[in-house]
Amino acid sequence: MEKHNGNPARQRKLRFGIALLLTAIAAFLVISHLSFSSFCPQHQTSKPKKQNVIFMVTDGMGPASLSLARSFKQHRDGLSIDDILTLDKHIIGNSRTRSSNSLVTDSAAGATAFSCALKSYNGAIGVDPSKNPCGTVLEAMKLEGYLTGLVVTTRITDATPAAFSAHVDYRWQEDLIAEQQLGETPLGRTVDLILGGGRCHFLPNTIPGGCRADQRNLVEEAIAKNWSYVSDRELFDSLDGGKNVSLPLLGLLAPTDIPYDIDRDSKVYPSLAEQAKTALTALSKATEDSDKGFFILIEGSRIDHAGHHNDPAAQVREVLAYDDAFKAVLEFADSTDVETVIISTSDHETGGLVTARQVSPSYPDYLWYPNVLLNSSHSGEYLTKKILTKKQTKELSPESFLSFIEKEIVQEDMGINDYTSKEIAEIQVSADASAEKLLYYLNNMISVRSQTGWTTHGHSAVDVNIYAYSNSKRINEILYQREAYAGLLGNHENIEIGTFMETLTGVNLEKVTDMLKDIKHHPEGKRASVNGADIHANAY
Ligand SMILES: *[C@@H]1O[C@H](CO)[C@@H](O)[C@H](O)[C@H]1NC(C)=O
Ligand SMILES: *[C@@H]1O[C@H](CO)[C@@H](O)[C@H](O)[C@H]1NC(C)=O
Ligand SMILES: *[C@@H]1O[C@H](CO)[C@@H](O)[C@H](O)[C@H]1NC(C)=O
Ligand SMILES: [Zn+2]
Repeated sequence: MEKHNGNPARQRKLRFGIALLLTAIAAFLVISHLSFSSFCPQHQTSKPKKQNVIFMVTDGMGPASLSLARSFKQHRDGLSIDDILTLDKHIIGNSRTRSSNSLVTDSAAGATAFSCALKSYNGAIGVDPSKNPCGTVLEAMKLEGYLTGLVVTTRITDATPAAFSAHVDYRWQEDLIAEQQLGETPLGRTVDLILGGGRCHFLPNTIPGGCRADQRNLVEEAIAKNWSYVSDRELFDSLDGGKNVSLPLLGLLAPTDIPYDIDRDSKVYPSLAEQAKTALTALSKATEDSDKGFFILIEGSRIDHAGHHNDPAAQVREVLAYDDAFKAVLEFADSTDVETVIISTSDHETGGLVTARQVSPSYPDYLWYPNVLLNSSHSGEYLTKKILTKKQTKELSPESFLSFIEKEIVQEDMGINDYTSKEIAEIQVSADASAEKLLYYLNNMISVRSQTGWTTHGHSAVDVNIYAYSNSKRINEILYQREAYAGLLGNHENIEIGTFMETLTGVNLEKVTDMLKDIKHHPEGKRASVNGADIHANAY
């Protein structure tokens, strides 16, 4: 009797069926492994998809800065209480900010935590606690074929952008930072686009606006190496919003800082949002045909300065200018097919800002006055310069100086009508003492009247917010994990943000660290023996 499986046709069918089943199982295993590994960064074995990483920093912005700016905007624009900032809609967690040597970090250690994913000491730029250079996410991504950019409102050689693109023992080595940012590193050039202030450390101190000690003109050198260079609003506009950019681009739009947004003349300086949009358009266009996207750092640098100055009128405008930039970046992410992640956080809080202040011995009323900030139309920094310039006027009588202070500065610029003659006299005394004393006196007049509190001219250790957004379901599933070194939901150590970017892109920071061993990073000459007090004077 014939067995069923003895029939050759049946056997063929059976074999075919088994083969089909095995193929299906194999296919299932491959597919499930692929999708599992793309969810789980620790198991990322497949090549990551094309993606853009947009890392945004609000230097010195603590949670109180948000409350202050939000209430200010609602008051100014007559908005309802549920009309919140764009940032508010994307909060995902908060970050613990201490450095390796202090509970209160500076911007250098704060940015190195993001860029190298490690804790270092206050003042460290892309070096570890033993002063060994550490590979950054920007460098690692550049070596993998991504394009890279830095966009700031302060000096491009300042701590935050420097910690992504340079390696020096102390943040004040800005001449050396500038050289490295233009490519004088064992890695070659790692930055494709620079937009911000800070021409000073690219130009010799023998020409106006220059401050390099070694007489090199890095701008001329960069142009000779085919960087395109823009140094003013007109040239910035010729970039046509990023559509007319030839990379690498060196955009140094001010000798040092770009003015505070409250003082900014839009005919002379672009806003942070304009700079960010231009950079995103340029980088997106330049990576159009690449299988790699770009990394960009965008910093609202001067929220920190307003905190150091204890200037609430300047700070609310800085935060709102950043919020506009954040909105523009979100719109970019929603307009591109490339998987894009936006992370926005602060390196630390500055000023110990609180949105209430007891200004009399009697128990305080529960309020603060945003209209005082609205009435003030310039920063303390701007008014200090204006007063000290006026003071230089030849044959200026004490009476006309006092009248200038009263009418032009206090009434017109600061919008204060309830001043006392003692305050006017104090402004004059402070102007004789020092620029710093004058600055602090003017800002205190606004702070007390608005009942805004400050506890320090330095930094504080309060946790800062983390905001995030992605146009990709895959990336969102990673972002919205709570565990340390996985996603960014909840409370995290600042270095986890660096690790997040490293893991998401699958780059290898250690490989870059190995390549950086021979980079020049120690200070030379007289300042090499700089003492702690000098370093402190540079610690912003
Ligand atoms: C600059 O560009 C020109 C023209 O494309 C090219 O011939 C030259 O080699 C480039 N120089 C450098 C230093 O890259
Ligand atoms: C584009 O940039 C070049 C310089 O790189 C400039 O000469 C030209 O005028 C720009 N075009 C526009 C439309 O601004
Ligand atoms: C703001 O300025 C207006 C117009 O000068 C003035 O009437 C008002 O008192 C000022 N408000 C505050 C809080 O100083
Ligand atoms: Zn900072």
